[in-house]
Amino acid sequence: MAQKNNDEQFKNVISHAKEYGFVFQSSEIYDGLSAVYDYGQLGAELKNNIKTYWWKAMVQMHENIVGIDSAIFMHPKVWKASGHVDGFNDPMIDNKDSKKRYRADQLLENKIDELYSELANFSAENKAKFEEFQQEILGLSDEGQASWVPTFKDEETILDHAKYPFVEEASWRFVKKGLTLEVEMNLALKSENLAQLKDLIVDYKVICPISKTSNWTDVRQFNLMFSTQFGAMAEGSDEVYLRPETAQGIFVNFLNVQKSGRMKIPFGIAQIGKAFRNEVIARQFIMRMREFEQMEMQFFVRPGEDKKWFEYWKEARLKWHKALGTPPEKYRYHDHVKLAHYANAATDIEFEFPFGFKEVEGIHSRTDFDLTQHQEFSGKKMQYFDNDLNEEGKPYGNYVPYVIETSIGLDRMFLLTMINAFEEQDLSTEDKQDSRTLLRLHPALAPYKVAVFPLTKKDGLPEKAREIMDTLKFDFNCIYEEKDAIGKRYRRQDAVGTPFCITVDHQSLEDNTVTIRHRDSMEQERVAIADLGNIIGSAVSWKTLLA
Ligand code: GAP
Repeated sequence: MAQKNNDEQFKNVISHAKEYGFVFQSSEIYDGLSAVYDYGQLGAELKNNIKTYWWKAMVQMHENIVGIDSAIFMHPKVWKASGHVDGFNDPMIDNKDSKKRYRADQLLENKIDELYSELANFSAENKAKFEEFQQEILGLSDEGQASWVPTFKDEETILDHAKYPFVEEASWRFVKKGLTLEVEMNLALKSENLAQLKDLIVDYKVICPISKTSNWTDVRQFNLMFSTQFGAMAEGSDEVYLRPETAQGIFVNFLNVQKSGRMKIPFGIAQIGKAFRNEVIARQFIMRMREFEQMEMQFFVRPGEDKKWFEYWKEARLKWHKALGTPPEKYRYHDHVKLAHYANAATDIEFEFPFGFKEVEGIHSRTDFDLTQHQEFSGKKMQYFDNDLNEEGKPYGNYVPYVIETSIGLDRMFLLTMINAFEEQDLSTEDKQDSRTLLRLHPALAPYKVAVFPLTKKDGLPEKAREIMDTLKFDFNCIYEEKDAIGKRYRRQDAVGTPFCITVDHQSLEDNTVTIRHRDSMEQERVAIADLGNIIGSAVSWKTLLA
């Protein structure tokens, strides 16, 4: 079958997710609610399995990591302390003709991507050279030293100088313009210079994709937190926020957990839970939602050991992703050049979605910023007493721990898993056209582990199949089906990723054997009913992922 283009493939995944009960638009009968989705009967199973994989890998496999479940509502001061009230903003701009609102930085990023698309004309060697140069320039701009980077309008720019002569002269002009814009945008964002962002949009002739005009309003800050009233409706009720990240529930419980669990540094606290952001641009299905779920872990370490643990978690988290059998080239790190004010290192784990490499998970070295802020705003000490001995033989004593955070979006992981597993296979032979849609999910993640079919609806076969189902269902999520021809039933299970189908036939009544069909190879073998538990159990065991 011809390779579908990425757009088409992505659309097929979305419609497959709906058709088979994985994901539905929220409130669909009322035409939906933008960027909010519901997980259907199979989506809920897959999502739970992804959560279990994460929880087991993080909590069960680490003696020094425990899990909590903190409330979505938190004291409003939490969000003052964390910086979200004042700083969790997006710079927004409206097009006066289409009345559409955009994130100013995303408009500029799209422009930068457009200019960088000329890199396709570079030789591999020159592209690599350029990327090195780009890191260098962005690094300088990050340190605030790039005020000298001239705008693209200048004739002679530092970017022209002989150190980086690119032979692809015509394309280099565009790429250079892209880099200059990237630097200028970073500087404007860093200094929160909204007027400068607007100027860049105008100068670089960014147009609204809908109205195709550049009739823009000024850029304004827009806070992404949802707020609601807490308590009675009348005066005196307080404004509270729906948490925009689960992490703060961990920070404020740091000492509760440390003391009640007698945890010794280094140790981690993990949690899975809902987060809410009033995203202005919500797009790409469940990639950017207004209500979503995060799986976060804060790892508390001694100051000075943060770099070491950052490297450890960076590697450990990518290993977790790759264990699922995803082609390694689909993943990459994106180290942040531009760091948030509280971080001293940050990297994203990116996956190659059909719409390009995008962040799935962030690993951030957050220093002691959050705990120190909570100490200041609550007036309660957030210190840990470390009685281990340092090199001089003295206890490390009291300190506010440093934190390495791993933060993965569950919904993005779900999307990645669906995209990665989705396959349309051509099974045609010379005599017959045939195809199947397959979800090649890791067996441990599959919603159903096994489907049990009686070959026909009579002769005692359904009863025998039910008997098998009744023994397997304690250990595995099973589905029983007797409708339609066996081939059709196989196809339905292929489409939802069920790794095994068991068929009960007349021979089964005589010798207690069944055929077991393997989803990926479509091979069938005859096995004893008594062996089914072991065969299925070893394939779907979490050990296959965690060991
Ligand atoms: N505590 C750190 C934190 O929240 P983040 O980079 O803002 O960091 C972490 O979010 C992860 O949460 C992202 O890598 C992404 O997978 C997921 N995420 C963030 N915003 C999201 C949204 N609007 N919809 C779906 N997932 C989102």
